[in-house]
Amino acid sequence: MTDVQTRELPAGRTTGRNVGRPIDRVDGTAKTTGAARYAAEYPYPGLTHAALVHATISRGRITSVDTAEAAAVPGVLAVITHLNAPAMKPPPPVSPLNLSTLVSGTTVNYLNTDEVHWDGQPVGVVVAETREAALRAAALVRVGYRELPATVDFAAGQGDARPEKSSPIQPGAVAKGDAAAAIAAAAVSVDVRYTTPPHHHNAIEPHATTAVWDGDRLTVHEGSQSIAWMRSHLALRFGVPAAGVRVISPYVGGAFGGKGMVWAGTVLTVLAARVTGRPVRLALTREGVYRTVGGRTPSAQRVALGASADGALTGLIHTSVTRTGRVGGMPEQVTSASRHLYDVPNITLQQATVPLDLLSNTAMRAPGESIGTFALEAAIDELACELDMDPILLRMRNEPARDPVDGKRFAHRMLREAYALGAERFGWPERTPRPGSMRDGKWLVGMGVATAYHPSWQFSANVTVRLAADGTVVVRCGFHEMGMGGATAQAQIAADALGVPFEAVRVEYGDSDLPTGPAAGGSAQTASVAAGLLAACEKLKRSVLALARRSGDSPLRGRRPHDLQARDGGLWAGASGPGETYAAILGRAGRASVEARVGSDTRAGEILGQAKFIAKFLRDRRRWVKAACGAQFCEVRVDSDTGEVRVSRWVGSFDVGTVINAKTTAGQLRGGIVMGIGMALSEETLLDPRTGRIMNPNLAEYHVPVHADIPPIDVHYLNEPDPTMPLGLIGVGEVSITGVAAAISNAVYHATGKRVRDLPITLDKLL
Ligand code: MOS
Repeated sequence: MTDVQTRELPAGRTTGRNVGRPIDRVDGTAKTTGAARYAAEYPYPGLTHAALVHATISRGRITSVDTAEAAAVPGVLAVITHLNAPAMKPPPPVSPLNLSTLVSGTTVNYLNTDEVHWDGQPVGVVVAETREAALRAAALVRVGYRELPATVDFAAGQGDARPEKSSPIQPGAVAKGDAAAAIAAAAVSVDVRYTTPPHHHNAIEPHATTAVWDGDRLTVHEGSQSIAWMRSHLALRFGVPAAGVRVISPYVGGAFGGKGMVWAGTVLTVLAARVTGRPVRLALTREGVYRTVGGRTPSAQRVALGASADGALTGLIHTSVTRTGRVGGMPEQVTSASRHLYDVPNITLQQATVPLDLLSNTAMRAPGESIGTFALEAAIDELACELDMDPILLRMRNEPARDPVDGKRFAHRMLREAYALGAERFGWPERTPRPGSMRDGKWLVGMGVATAYHPSWQFSANVTVRLAADGTVVVRCGFHEMGMGGATAQAQIAADALGVPFEAVRVEYGDSDLPTGPAAGGSAQTASVAAGLLAACEKLKRSVLALARRSGDSPLRGRRPHDLQARDGGLWAGASGPGETYAAILGRAGRASVEARVGSDTRAGEILGQAKFIAKFLRDRRRWVKAACGAQFCEVRVDSDTGEVRVSRWVGSFDVGTVINAKTTAGQLRGGIVMGIGMALSEETLLDPRTGRIMNPNLAEYHVPVHADIPPIDVHYLNEPDPTMPLGLIGVGEVSITGVAAAISNAVYHATGKRVRDLPITLDKLL
């Protein structure tokens, strides 16, 4: 069970009765009864269905297309290829003046080119009266190619990796002191290599789009993590005003980063609807998702550590090679946690990437950190063994007071407390250190531990809050709900900020016609929306106070905003002073409602919002290192005959600042651990090294953990506010996957005496 520790928040913060409570999610009933409508479930009169045709070569040009057989399938309305597709504007180059340019999944202008850039690239789209007819016809489109040489094998291409250039978001390389010399001279050292395979997100809801044109107005239903950027992107690609494009996305059936960008399916559904003049739905098959939506890059990493005999780290080297696509993708911040976790005088970090002729990689839950902490935290364990020292003790021996790389302060860091709490709940002291020493019959029992770490971010969010005379509140912001409980959390925050019951608040989200919200990424959405929402609530209270003060009889006459408490459905002077309800104030003023707004959706407002966001981001970066952290504890049981690894127990202990909702937070933390267990033990996207074709694009052969693979997961959090974040909250979406694979690999070593440095830890590697 979740351990919910509540503590007094510092003065001046909301201390209401809703924030922190384990309130059921507001959309829970709709989701569990099937009433919630997902992107592929919107009925339209005359709705048609699309299917994609995928390239079967890795790189080259299309030389011929034969659509006769496909077009003859009964019910087929259109077979669209580069030979007959209308022109679209190409994906825009990335520009800091317009952050929506970040949202192109690839640089390819689909069906506007005869070039093929990866095995699986869409080269045609079929529209038919039924999905079955569309899929059948898509399989009958015959495409001829002239193949060009392609580089698709990550293992073979690593030699061509180039060191990443530093970016303002995260400087890539660190060279502090002389790590190589320090490690060479160290009393104890390790120098090890780790590899991780490609991964795919596998949301329960595969990507789907329903697109409807009405003249130059476009409505798109799509599960997305960035509806505002998707709207801008589609407007640009199809040459229509953004104001006429509406992206509706109230429910997203899981995303994990895979729905952060605009991928081919979305663009081609909109294109197909343009061509046919009919509403079009494209529900990708699971295979279609693998072929058209990027996944996590594979990685090859080296970690070298040196320490004195008493465990003081003297040198740290962490280098990584990852891959992008030649047509897009992003370098991953694999060494990011290595900048912040250990107080080491000599640190060398370097990330290198190689572009391959494959679909772009994309963000997947804690991109960079989840695989980077595998290597770092496994190497720390290896060093602890060399030192004959408890791995928690080694970590605490090197816990920094300030950022090890640049000396900045931590905005908040309670890793020691997280370890202390976790070790106690897990029963760490009962572990006997020698590998293989905790056998239980045929089971080799092992216990492992690792640090979780993920930076905390905050984007800008435009929010309106409307208070009605009956005391009900509507919060409006185009943010995203992909399962994390976002609307519930914001309703809790608004209820406390305005002093109304939770049930009185309705939150509207998931629609690009709402005030522009942040992208749901980087674990930043809750804090980002909360900041806008709290500011809007403050404005609203001032407006209500101004209304009250207009009347001679108001008990709030002469009161200033900072004297006031919002509670019991109104404003009151202090804890026991006079005041009145919103209903009384609005009623006397003859107002049905009062509204407050933060941020503007005009182009100027958008530019201002971006500028403010970037300024705040850079200011924060200069002052502080901000992050969530935690300690992962696990127990594994390895079958001594077969090498099968079972995870039998888990304790995660996290420092995620203020917890807004005890239930949804625990759900997020558990979910990340489950995903990390998959990464450690079973998940692996397999590519044919000759063609780059994904060979296991389905859940039968890409193994995610099932219920029976997951032990009881005990999550704890400290619930101490980060003073630099709104309400003290730090995002919880990603930190919990970090450190998981390392904790498991460390536990497997403890059980068996074998180090598996290549994920996933399958039984063949243990025999
Ligand atoms: Mo994410 S991987 O920031 O959705």
